Amino acid sequence: MANILAVKPLNTILNEAHETGEHSLKRVLGPTNLITLGIGAIIGTGIFVITGTATAEHAGPAIILSFIFAASGCVFAGLCYAEFASMIPVAGSAYTYGYATLGEIFAWIIGWDLVLEYAFGAATVASGWSGYLISLLGDFGIKLPPSLAGTRWDEFIFYNNHWEPVKLIMPKLKAGMIDPSTLPHAFGTFNLFGFLAILLTTVILVIGIKESANFNSLIVIVKVCVLIIFVGIGASYLGKHPNLMATNWHPFIPPNTGHFGEFGWSGILRAAGIIFFAYIGFDAVSTAAQEAKNPEKDMPIGILGSLVICTILYIVVAAVLTGLVPYHNLDVRDPLAVGIDSTGVRWGSLLVKMGALMGLSSTIVVMLLGQSRVFFSMSKDGLLPKLFSNVHPKFRTPWISSITVGTFVAALAASLPINVLDEMVSIGTLLAFVIVCAGVWLLRRRNPDLPRPFKTPWVPAVPILGIVISLAMMVSLTGLTWIRLCVWLAIGMVIYFTYGRRHSKVQQAAQSQ
Ligand code: ALA
Repeated sequence: MANILAVKPLNTILNEAHETGEHSLKRVLGPTNLITLGIGAIIGTGIFVITGTATAEHAGPAIILSFIFAASGCVFAGLCYAEFASMIPVAGSAYTYGYATLGEIFAWIIGWDLVLEYAFGAATVASGWSGYLISLLGDFGIKLPPSLAGTRWDEFIFYNNHWEPVKLIMPKLKAGMIDPSTLPHAFGTFNLFGFLAILLTTVILVIGIKESANFNSLIVIVKVCVLIIFVGIGASYLGKHPNLMATNWHPFIPPNTGHFGEFGWSGILRAAGIIFFAYIGFDAVSTAAQEAKNPEKDMPIGILGSLVICTILYIVVAAVLTGLVPYHNLDVRDPLAVGIDSTGVRWGSLLVKMGALMGLSSTIVVMLLGQSRVFFSMSKDGLLPKLFSNVHPKFRTPWISSITVGTFVAALAASLPINVLDEMVSIGTLLAFVIVCAGVWLLRRRNPDLPRPFKTPWVPAVPILGIVISLAMMVSLTGLTWIRLCVWLAIGMVIYFTYGRRHSKVQQAAQSQ
């Protein structure tokens, strides 16, 4: 009888990490690469797109509080990730940490759950990328037919000779006293640009990690600069119009509508759960541990450094955006472009759109990279078929894993709306955070003497706070998202009990002793 709580011995994990030769990954990443890798994963659709919806539908200007709340959860979880990543520097992230501490069944749950974070995350970002591209092309008069501009949940209205998303056009129709039911309606079918974004990224990843990391560093610079320019232009405009911010920030916390999650304090909490997505990515640094030159020292620097830089940027961007634009006008696919438009700086909107397009592409790279690396580790452990750990003889990348993941994610991006994808990513990642925080605490009690190059301070207070804040954000998400999470985990259980458990190398080693 297999033991589903079997733990993978730390020695085995560390020996595997030190493996070299043809079938191991290349160690090429230093601390700066890791921080840029983190920022590359963190800044993306969350700040460029989802901030708008979360502000308009859930929190109003108090989105700033949501950002602070979500960041605090990430800092606590980040400290726990950093301890694990420095102690167990192997590709696989939270999955490997779970295997070393909580046992195989938990490792499987985390690994399966990380698909929500990385694969669904990449699809969410691709969906945001597609929105900015459609908006940019629209500025040049190029319009995509609705069937290729969105999923079947996205509704369009024919107005002024072209199709516009309902959400975008409604304020104009209202202002012109036009009854939308008198205009032609259509629904999307296939998000073409989301699909293509994933396919293109998959090709880059198959070619290799070094190329991907260089590509990432360049784009990270671009997107950080775009956010700084946004803040610069916006803040100087607000400085010249001192009443604008006071007006748009009044009320700072719009009153609750009577429904949980629609403004008021519950709205701030739900918005935190939704824009938590904007912080996801610092943990992706840990999935590159096997490619880091000096993982013990550099992992914590990579994780915490990228998190702190992004938190500061987000809070400032959110403050400027909600100061510039009344919150209810932000339910659009390109809120930062709308923000800069309101300042009258013509080139600003173009810059934001181009920067977003470049910036989001690096986020897709890191998310897809993280996903194929997690599958790589699970496959090495026998929990997934061998082909997922097949390293290409020339490129030395897990190419089959990348192609399989890429195809699945491209289909997701083409067919599911951004809000469904976003909430799935948030709930899945928060669950992984809860398990990682619990794992750090547990391992401190169970193996207090293990060498820990980076130690999470104030244990157990930090892991407990990480767990509590993550759970609070999970609870704030919709019931439907919870049902989807349960279905996803149930599918995972079926795969584990029919395949993983029978092929697990840890189980086989235990039985042969
Ligand atoms: N944090 C990443 C983003 O916002 C996933 O796109």
